[in-house]
Amino acid sequence: MKNKLETFKLHDTAPQAAQVQSFNGNGHLVEVRQAIKTFDSPAGRFTALKGIDLDLNQGEFVAIVGKSGSGKSTLLNILTGIDRPTTGEVLVGGAPISRLTEDQIARWRGRTVGVVFQFFQLLPTLTVIENVMLPMDFCNTFPGRERQARAMQLLDKLA
Ligand SMILES: Nc1ncnc2c1ncn2[C@@H]1O[C@H](COP(=O)(O)OP(=O)(O)O)[C@@H](O)[C@H]1O
Ligand SMILES: [Mg+2]
Repeated sequence: MKNKLETFKLHDTAPQAAQVQSFNGNGHLVEVRQAIKTFDSPAGRFTALKGIDLDLNQGEFVAIVGKSGSGKSTLLNILTGIDRPTTGEVLVGGAPISRLTEDQIARWRGRTVGVVFQFFQLLPTLTVIENVMLPMDFCNTFPGRERQARAMQLLDKLA
């Protein structure tokens, strides 16, 4: 059975893609070149991504579509720096994320990417506001005394 993974560009909200500073200077916000991802397990090696090429521009709203097990989560993980491809290149906003060290990629992810997980990944031992403030603590993005007010502003937007 063939595992097919497709991306659909649903609509383009920002035609000014040329403003994006990309690694290759060609205006793409996301570039994936020949990304292969293999997983090794006791049952053997499994290739989840078999050479993905993908260009996304700023403002595009894109859905990745494929049946269960076709590699959607694996692709999202390598686009967001949660995982890295076995071989191939991933550039996001000019950052060569497939080549960064673990420390660099953690810093890049914390400052650059927002991921809404299916199961949210909130920490149950923290309050709502503490959960919102946690990434600011990790990334040192706002002065400590401003973080609570910033978190309240963000939560207000959801109310
Ligand atoms: N950490 C892993 N170890 C081994 N196999 C994995 C791992 N993650 C995903 N896979 C396998 O890679 C394939 C693609 O998985 P996934 O990206 O989760 O698919 P989807 O999100 O499209 O359902 C599946 O066959 C899955 O079992
Ligand atoms: Mg999935």
